[in-house]
Amino acid sequence: MVEKSYKWWQKTVVYQVYPRSFKDSTGNGIGDLSGIIEKLDYLQNLGVETIWFSPFYPSPTFKPYSQHDCGYDISNYKDIHPEYGTMELFDELVKKIHNRNMKIVLDMVLNHTSIEHPWFKESRSSRDNPKRDWYIWRDGRKPNGKKPPNNWNSMIGKGWEYNSHTDQWFYHAFLPFQPDLNYRNPEVQKEMLDTVRFWLKKGVDGYRLDIINTLFEDAEFRKAPFIFKLFSEDSGTFFKSSQMTLNHPDTYEFCKTLRETIDEFPGKFLVGEITASLKILKNYLGNVCKDGTSHDGLNLVFLFQSMTTPMKPKRFRNLMQMYEKWFSYPYTPTWVFGNHDQRRRITKIGDNFNKAKINATLQLTARGVPFIYYGEELGMKEGKSSKKESRDAIAHYFKWIPQFMQNILGKYGIPINRDGCRTPMQWDDSENAGFCPPNIEPWLSVNPSFIKRNVKKEEKDEGSLLNCYKRLLKVRKESPALQIGDFELINLKKLKEKCLAYKRILGKQEINVYLNFLNKVLLIKIPIQEPKLIFSTLSNRKALYPEANNGKIKLFPFEGIIFR
Ligand code: NOJ
Repeated sequence: MVEKSYKWWQKTVVYQVYPRSFKDSTGNGIGDLSGIIEKLDYLQNLGVETIWFSPFYPSPTFKPYSQHDCGYDISNYKDIHPEYGTMELFDELVKKIHNRNMKIVLDMVLNHTSIEHPWFKESRSSRDNPKRDWYIWRDGRKPNGKKPPNNWNSMIGKGWEYNSHTDQWFYHAFLPFQPDLNYRNPEVQKEMLDTVRFWLKKGVDGYRLDIINTLFEDAEFRKAPFIFKLFSEDSGTFFKSSQMTLNHPDTYEFCKTLRETIDEFPGKFLVGEITASLKILKNYLGNVCKDGTSHDGLNLVFLFQSMTTPMKPKRFRNLMQMYEKWFSYPYTPTWVFGNHDQRRRITKIGDNFNKAKINATLQLTARGVPFIYYGEELGMKEGKSSKKESRDAIAHYFKWIPQFMQNILGKYGIPINRDGCRTPMQWDDSENAGFCPPNIEPWLSVNPSFIKRNVKKEEKDEGSLLNCYKRLLKVRKESPALQIGDFELINLKKLKEKCLAYKRILGKQEINVYLNFLNKVLLIKIPIQEPKLIFSTLSNRKALYPEANNGKIKLFPFEGIIFR
């Protein structure tokens, strides 16, 4: 039997900061590194241990905006975009995070650069430029080459873009201004692994790997086959298979190389961004190593399944069972409910704070690493985003889709305009929510909900969502069983449609979690004589007594509890 052991990143809670929207310290309406440094105390007091930053690397200006895809279109991998600060400020940020015993994770966009990256500028300049083969160039289809080389799609539309200067096409897995690097070229691999090392040497503790499933394509450029499906998690969309462009076996192998690279620096970790079935996702994690306590691919992958799971006990029970099936020790699941690409969680669950508290309790007590998106802890809701004023590059790409259709697609989890989840952090109820000085126009409008939902106000309210998160994070920090304990569902028989219950077990320690998903009181029989309350989503509940008697506990409407 394997003696289980755990690394720090398996026990941590990650908080995602979207730098552009967190705190503006210079008064230009754009968040920056000094602003983040100012707010580190907030993050420490909240109780999160690891901060993941969406990109703050240089990314070119496409008038009228800088940073076309907000940093996911990089023009220099080894610098800081001037809007956000300098390398000195970055070093200070790392130091200040580490001084607080916290960790820093950067976003790494390996698949593509910006079209304005000097490498691509060189590459597109002539067919025989030494950087030509750093990107994926092909002749168009015969007879006159005016058709794309094959029928490959990107993740969101057409995959090929024509370059008239050299009369060839380049492939892009995302938007047309984000050309794919050619990972079949060893020079590209070497350069990008070197980039990975660059920030690790500067002290960062890990990376979130942007759309890592897109690195390798079919080497022979074979046609994407027809599939009889409009949409499938793994195999493609709009009747076209994605097997030639996504989840290529060579990408799984390269993830092992990435892992070896970060392992040159002890104590670092990688989390991959991939939307796929659990079966495919597992391929990125590699095989279990000889000692049985680790695996040789990425350390973690996001499991986005939770984002689309309806707030029903049965659905979460099934999901948790699936996670246990696919990601049992030494694999570690992740729990994600929002990010900079998705509609705000609270909006998805009907703007219901009780449900948000249940959701938070689940996220912070289930087995795995929780990822909290900035503002989720305040109940920041989806901003209204209109086609006309959109800032998001995807919204521009899809501007031909009428607004009403965009709204419908958004509701079904396909956000066309991602501005709504990127609105400025709500620090207080002053003009611009304390994000930037009054009389300055923030890069995206502040959500009007800031008057009631802001840090200053919620900190003072014992029953706020923010304080619920704080209490939960404290409970988790003090309980090794919640961090690394085994997971076991509790069978509630008749009540199972109403309540989700499970245990986290570590040695002799057993922590019970009961979540009432209904707006009704529930009486539930428990096999424990004198249960001791550790946490309730209701801030004024101090004990399970006097409500607990005759071996039963009482759960108030939408109450979540943790007890021993
Ligand atoms: C996924 C990122 O999360 C998204 O924001 C970005 O636009 C694309 N990858 C392209 O890098």
